[in-house]
Amino acid sequence: MADYKDFLDIRDRTREELLATLEFARNMKTDLKAGKGSTALAGKTLAMVFQKPSTRTRISFEVGMWQLGGYALYLAPADIGLGKRESVADIARVLARYNDGIMARVFEHEHVLELGRWSDVPVINGLTDYNHPCQVLADLLTILEHKGTVEDIKVAFVGDGNNLSHSWLNAAGRLEFDLSLAIPEGYDPDATTYSEAAAANPGVTLTRDPREAVEDADVIYTDTWTSMGQEEEAERRREAFAGFTVNAELTGLARDDVIVMHCLPAHRGEEITDEIMDGPHSVVFDEAENRMHAQKAVLVELMGR
Ligand code: CP
Ligand code: NVA
Repeated sequence: MADYKDFLDIRDRTREELLATLEFARNMKTDLKAGKGSTALAGKTLAMVFQKPSTRTRISFEVGMWQLGGYALYLAPADIGLGKRESVADIARVLARYNDGIMARVFEHEHVLELGRWSDVPVINGLTDYNHPCQVLADLLTILEHKGTVEDIKVAFVGDGNNLSHSWLNAAGRLEFDLSLAIPEGYDPDATTYSEAAAANPGVTLTRDPREAVEDADVIYTDTWTSMGQEEEAERRREAFAGFTVNAELTGLARDDVIVMHCLPAHRGEEITDEIMDGPHSVVFDEAENRMHAQKAVLVELMGR
């Protein structure tokens, strides 16, 4: 029996556990497409706490729970007042009395850790200002499908040193793939997260030059320049990230069979062009679909016990 209760960070799992979850997700997806869906969570409920907007996270968890025979409750930003109307610890204990699991999208990473500490039922991180582990798990599933492996490949991350870059660094610290980050000065990832990944994996590098990062890349990954909560900085960020657009020229410097990924929502014309989003290298909609398949594996692992 695995010794984890929650899924708050890619680093909550060993390499072997991550690979096993990906294999489980892939098998469940294949079975579902063959008309053999699982009802492993029949009668179980998931409380979904949102402090920020969402399309993919909400829908993939809600539909995923329904497919597994369970039910998911959507709790909008105004409903719970996490840490404002009521303390995080009290909310964790109350939700755990009604539900078999909690999924939370919050601003402060500490809040999701606190939910995990106080809840008796599993807690899943649906994005914080620090990381987005469910997204990177779905991304790895997508890479596995398209490349046949998540190791011995090169991933180029072009963009902001924010939550997605942190989960990518966390993944590179666990799995054997090269991760080349191209990030403008002033927008670097958290220094400890970077150095921990670089110490575990000599293939982790950071450059200011997107052209250098994408050379020989099997995967080019990007994310918005302005994350949720940073809207007031949008103009300044557009200037700082000039030259970091994933366009045809940049994509042309990678391997011929490179796949281009974006967690979405995309700001077309900023971090990625229409031509690339809608072109032959793009796997962004497979990636969006895989949010559900990857998370169903996590839900069954954590709540199906
Ligand atoms: N990628 C992602 O988490 O999308 P949402 O913000 O729409 O949930
Ligand atoms: N970095 C983005 C990811 C959205 C899924 C944000 O935090 O808004």
